[in-house]
Amino acid sequence: MIELAPSILSADFARLGEQVRAAGEGGASVIHVDIMDGHFVPNLTIGPPVVKSLRKVTELPLDCHLMIEDPDEFIPAFADAGADWISVHQEAVRHLNRTLHLIKSHDCLAGVVINPATPVETLSEVLDIVDYVLVMSVNPGFGAQKFIPSTLHKMRQLAEIRSQRGLHYRIEVDGGVALDTIADVVRAGAEILVAGNAVFGNGDPSKNTQALLKVATEAAMLKV
Ligand code: DX5
Ligand code: ZN
Repeated sequence: MIELAPSILSADFARLGEQVRAAGEGGASVIHVDIMDGHFVPNLTIGPPVVKSLRKVTELPLDCHLMIEDPDEFIPAFADAGADWISVHQEAVRHLNRTLHLIKSHDCLAGVVINPATPVETLSEVLDIVDYVLVMSVNPGFGAQKFIPSTLHKMRQLAEIRSQRGLHYRIEVDGGVALDTIADVVRAGAEILVAGNAVFGNGDPSKNTQALLKVATEAAMLKV
């Protein structure tokens, strides 16, 4: 099933509730929340208090993408604040197996993320643990960057490994997903589509969400 996950990174933070509601009205079924620490990535964003506030304005699952060092230290706080899904970067975590189990022990779905330069092979020992794999299609840190097409093969590879090994993780993509790239990521096998600038950058988030979902769903139908 194709799902659109608007990233609030490009939203107006002073009108967050309103913007999240609008995206939901347009058909978004997950809200993507980018957590940055100024160390793992060169930018700073938000922490558990904002997740707690978001929890009050939407019933959609909150997909917390942790771009932080030592995520184990903060996973309990994000889970308590109301995160439903928590993903961590392969590149940021020393004991990935332990961290993924920590996320699950807080009753959240556990995801692992790979940067554009990180191969899928680095995940072979955790693919049977994770609920989803997030393929970064830009270098993390900022919204509105250009999609990196060479990441598409990793989505294809993850779909192939899943069927070969009989696994069940879902495939998410994040970065530069917009009207001109969304069909390509769907054809490559991505199912959870994060879009920040394309939803909140210009115009009405509800209409933008609808338009993106339309193109994505059409591409998915043609695929089978
Ligand atoms: C990038 C973040 C993304 C970002 C995507 O570091 O992880 O979630 O908000 O934004 P767009 O869709 O604008 O590339
Ligand atoms: Zn993200």
